[in-house]
Amino acid sequence: MTSRITVLATGGTIAGIAGSAIAKDYVAGQITIEDYLEEVGGLGLGAEFSGRQIANIDSADIGPEVWNALHPAVIEALADDDCDGVIVTHGTDTLEETAFLLDLTLPASKPVVLVGAMRPADAVGYDGLRNFANAVRVASDADAAGRGVLVVMGDRVFGARDVRKVRTRGTDAFRGFPRESVALVTPSSLEWFGAPWRPDAVAQFDWCDALPEVVILYAHAAMDAVAVERMIGQDARGVVVAGVGEGNMPEVVRQELVRQRASGLHVVRASRADEGLVDREAEDDANGFTAARALNPQKARILLQLLIANGITEPAAIQRVFDGS
Ligand code: SIN
Repeated sequence: MTSRITVLATGGTIAGIAGSAIAKDYVAGQITIEDYLEEVGGLGLGAEFSGRQIANIDSADIGPEVWNALHPAVIEALADDDCDGVIVTHGTDTLEETAFLLDLTLPASKPVVLVGAMRPADAVGYDGLRNFANAVRVASDADAAGRGVLVVMGDRVFGARDVRKVRTRGTDAFRGFPRESVALVTPSSLEWFGAPWRPDAVAQFDWCDALPEVVILYAHAAMDAVAVERMIGQDARGVVVAGVGEGNMPEVVRQELVRQRASGLHVVRASRADEGLVDREAEDDANGFTAARALNPQKARILLQLLIANGITEPAAIQRVFDGS
């Protein structure tokens, strides 16, 4: 049966052009969704596509403006009886942040799949068509519903909470932590590892057009409290520490954050280590800090922004949500 897929395009390398098959440099977000779907239409992927250009930019520039256009477009597609699944094309650099934000704020009623590419469309070995064909396979599968937002890169499917870009080059740039991939996919096969985990399908948090400012502090040896105070500034409602090891930081920095916590700043301890599980420690209770558990700093930031926006600001309540992540 032919599936009906809505493709929402935001740019990235999957729509990038180098002007040469072997050039290293290229410009992301050059091909329009109309041109892309014309090419994809010839591949015989067993799907009908309707496309919409939300943006056509490098994902380093993605933020609230694009998210505020993308989120309602996905909601509209999910409500459309003529849509079986949604694919969002996206640059790989911040793909994990958009995927997690959508995962937290969308119902899991139909498949929503983010996909990108590591090589521009005119490069030898362009991975974008293969990744897109795999994404079509996932977005067409009714069993992909109830799993939240999914990310397809290479022949693997990742959960939005787990996925992270771990390499700057090469097509094997994504990994999942703590769960590795949740399925293996090719254009003609799809094998899930386990049952859907969001059977109730409802959105976990309300969408919010204006997310509060939350800064990420990258901890390092000899970090200085005055610099920390400057980085946090006047407007931040929260800070995520990309801590050393298991969410640790120099004592002067901890004392500065305890001081700022007393004036209402929310503090989440994550890790700058690649696969960093950060558990609560005894001092967190006294300090009113939160442990990020398995979330990396950039995802912990998105979650803290959403929690503050949804009025969840009590430290124990914040910790409960991070524990469930
Ligand atoms: C981007 O994130 O937009 C550029 C890099 C990529 O898509 O791989």
